[in-house]
Amino acid sequence: MAIKTRRDFLKKTGTGLLAATMPAIASADPKNTQIIEDLQKNAGPNDKIRLAVVGMGIMGYNNLAAAVKVPGVEFVAACDLYDGRLTRAKELYGDNIATTRNYRELLDRKDIDAICVATSDHWHDRITIDALNKGKSVYCEKPMVHKIEEGYAVIEAEKKSGKTLQVGSQRASSILYHKAAELYKSGAIGQLIIAEANTDRFSANGAWQYSIPTDASEKTVDWKGFLGDAPVRDFDPLRFFRWRNYQDYGTGVAGDLFVHLFTGLHVVLGSQGPNRIFASGGLRFWKDGRDVPDVMLAVVDYPQTASHAAFNLQIRVNFVDSGGGSNLLRLIGTEGTMELGWGQIIIKKNKLDDAPGYGGWDSYETFSSAQQKEYEKWYKAKYPVNYAMKDPGEQIYQTPDGYDDNVAHWTSFINGIRTGAKVTEDGSFGLRSAGPSLATNLSYFGNKVINWDPVKMAVIS
Ligand SMILES: NC(=O)c1ccc[n+]([C@@H]2O[C@H](COP(=O)([O-])OP(=O)(O)OC[C@H]3O[C@@H](n4cnc5c(N)ncnc54)[C@H](O)[C@@H]3O)[C@@H](O)[C@H]2O)c1
Repeated sequence: MAIKTRRDFLKKTGTGLLAATMPAIASADPKNTQIIEDLQKNAGPNDKIRLAVVGMGIMGYNNLAAAVKVPGVEFVAACDLYDGRLTRAKELYGDNIATTRNYRELLDRKDIDAICVATSDHWHDRITIDALNKGKSVYCEKPMVHKIEEGYAVIEAEKKSGKTLQVGSQRASSILYHKAAELYKSGAIGQLIIAEANTDRFSANGAWQYSIPTDASEKTVDWKGFLGDAPVRDFDPLRFFRWRNYQDYGTGVAGDLFVHLFTGLHVVLGSQGPNRIFASGGLRFWKDGRDVPDVMLAVVDYPQTASHAAFNLQIRVNFVDSGGGSNLLRLIGTEGTMELGWGQIIIKKNKLDDAPGYGGWDSYETFSSAQQKEYEKWYKAKYPVNYAMKDPGEQIYQTPDGYDDNVAHWTSFINGIRTGAKVTEDGSFGLRSAGPSLATNLSYFGNKVINWDPVKMAVIS
């Protein structure tokens, strides 16, 4: 493991930005090369995993780009409810790609091994369960479900089918989060006391005002197919193309973004989740007809377990200011803090053993000059080590250039299908990330504290 102090390897550039000369996380297998080589070895020319994607929107295409990097994966069919996205699939992947508006047609095809579910949240459970029941392995986007209760049927179908289910919070496979877990376990920050997790953004796309094609109509969009179990209403392109803004189809900032933050935290701590949640927030800025908040904060309590003492988490999504830190997780422990950002972990030590304070904001400065000199001499003689540690510096770990946790997550999925190995985010892990996220919605909309059972994955009250 390559670590250095910040002073050792960070250089200031002319603009005052930190030059990116940090060493990579020297994980034994930073890019899953071993798994990828094994997959290549085990995969004969005809031993393909034939993949169909349901939901060819932003994440459908992103997943596809990651999936086809994993050896043996062949993209064969696309399903979507807007015709333009099916045309796009052929433009990008060729005319041989089968296209349909009806996902059930794909489940009946014997030559399809795996289904990626990248639809709006309200379809996740139905398509995942149908696919598992038809003997397909499933990569289901996060949040695993639209409503907590739907999660139990998904887990049951996963178990009954014996097929591989990977839920799509890619941090579950990220070497960054696994490295942080190793560091945490080794005592790098002592005992965790408080955690902070934020996703802050300020842009129209960041706040889900996505483009609506000019040809959107009931001819080009299967509106009834989209509604599914949502309340019936007339065609509304806003609701179809910006479904995240409506509770009928999406899960608000909690299901969309808290879920990533919970996943990362649970990987680092080996935690099953919190036991108490209280959320607040409001719709402060993006008042475009949406019925979900654009600012949401929650105070979340974690109980003591074998892997961590009791601690508190402060979690936030904010769409009116990108300055707070996008996708930042900070763990504050008795001996230091660990900060996880995009591609890097920073550890700052804060413990000076048992030495009392000295310098800075200290009563020492109220002493006479003569006494200050005497005191300094005495202090340095008594606490030479702690004095030297006054500026312990930082340790930084960084993912290798080009590292992509989506590819890592897909590698885990395909490896699970091929070898039967446990994936990094099965149905239970998926619900343990989605459950507390959706419980913050219950707290916010119900204006109450939610008591959560992290083992049973259920609301207690
Ligand atoms: N893991 C991540 O980092 C990440 C990032 C973005 C989105 N997501 C998740 O991916 C999912 C999709 O998000 P998106 O941004 O791609 O949305 P999107 O609106 O761009 O695409 C969703 C697509 O699903 C299609 N669809 C909806 N219901 C369908 C059905 N029954 N059958 C076939 N197609 C259907 C729609 O036509 C649409 O094209 C969401 O659950 C979201 O939370 C995950």
